[in-house]
Amino acid sequence: MNVLLLGSGGREHALAWKLAQSPQMGQFYALPGNPGIAEHADIIEGIPLSAHDMLVTWCKDHGIAFVVVGPEAPLVAGLVDRLAQAGITAFGPTAAAARLEGSKLFTKELCKANGIPTAAYAGFTDAASAIAYVEAEGAPIVVKADGLMAGKGVVVALTVEEAVTAVEQVFAGGGTEVLIEEFMEGEEASLFALVDGETVLAFGSAQDHKRAFDGDLGPNTGGMGAYSPAPVLTPELEERAMREIIAPTAKAMVAAGTPYRGVLYAGLMLTKAGPKLVEYNCRFGDPECQVLMPRFSGDLLEVLHATATGRLAGVTPRWSADSAITVVYASKGYPGPHPNGSEIKGIANASGDGVLVFQAGTKRMGNALVSNGGRVLAVTATGADLAAARDRAYAAIGRIGWPDGFYRTDIGWRALGVKPPCPKA
Ligand code: AMP
Ligand code: GLY
Repeated sequence: MNVLLLGSGGREHALAWKLAQSPQMGQFYALPGNPGIAEHADIIEGIPLSAHDMLVTWCKDHGIAFVVVGPEAPLVAGLVDRLAQAGITAFGPTAAAARLEGSKLFTKELCKANGIPTAAYAGFTDAASAIAYVEAEGAPIVVKADGLMAGKGVVVALTVEEAVTAVEQVFAGGGTEVLIEEFMEGEEASLFALVDGETVLAFGSAQDHKRAFDGDLGPNTGGMGAYSPAPVLTPELEERAMREIIAPTAKAMVAAGTPYRGVLYAGLMLTKAGPKLVEYNCRFGDPECQVLMPRFSGDLLEVLHATATGRLAGVTPRWSADSAITVVYASKGYPGPHPNGSEIKGIANASGDGVLVFQAGTKRMGNALVSNGGRVLAVTATGADLAAARDRAYAAIGRIGWPDGFYRTDIGWRALGVKPPCPKA
């Protein structure tokens, strides 16, 4: 089957690497792709991901049977609906189903209506009522702007003053709605589930590191590293999260006439009272996908296509017993302003023997590979346990020559039981 993969990050490089291994793969294309993805797929240029009509025409002209959508924006914008109208199957939810990520309020209401464990909340459309509520509830308390904010719309306020300021900022910044949530205490873990409507299938777990610097310090980022599986999410807790959170969500979406098809990425808080939902994403995580794919040992194309076409019942994903860890190599300055265009050497030297270097913000300049973004590489290693994977990943990153990059030296510290910073291999 001819396949088009949409996206250009490390997540999509990991998907491309795995999809390309499928015996069912025909012509494999990627848009807009990156130099890493180009090793597995033909790169298509000149069509913006937002140009849905152009994309549909291109797919028809090239006999595309299946489109795999990596990032959330095209999903929320209804690309999968548009492809479906044209008779093209795609992996990813419709716009109505992608509201599970696109609207925090939609998800909170769905949880409330279906008894799905999550933080208690109240929604407000004006600052005064929100502030009165915050003052009545006290701190710690969580303030969230609605909509797709890439994690930036959330303030975990330790004092009432901080919460009040956060509320004022949402409305001053043009926001029209704010959510105030109960503060949940516990360790966070990510659970991935494939959902084809009614059928749900656990598809791996991970934990990430959102802060820029060692010791979980510094600004929030898209993620500086991750590992899989997440040891805190024991098989019992995972089963409970599937039963109490994922399955009722899928059921509610079907009942609402907007069935969810795709990967449902649940950010969980493992509280004393059990797993509770922090948020949903309607796509794979980045860099979480980079640690899921090396552990998945089945046919990814077959599983994603089965998900998209409602044939997930009876599918049993196969996983390697190995652990995987990925260390993000980012441009100095990320997540703030940073230079682009500096040469990266030694990727081939770092790769192999359980190491995969997934590319995110890179581009070719002549014969050179140069940086072209904040998160540039995801250096991924597998090993018999997390410590072995960690040592391999750090040994590999040491073989990459890129003076303009930085990385955290303590990825995996929670699961490894070491206080950061852990020793650099
Ligand atoms: P979100 O964008 O909803 O995932 O929130 C970003 C981060 O804020 C989460 O990963 C948590 O670390 C934290 N967070 C969000 N909601 C809560 C909550 N109700 N209680 C505690 N922490 C939260
Ligand atoms: N690494 C977090 C995310 O993909 O949302």
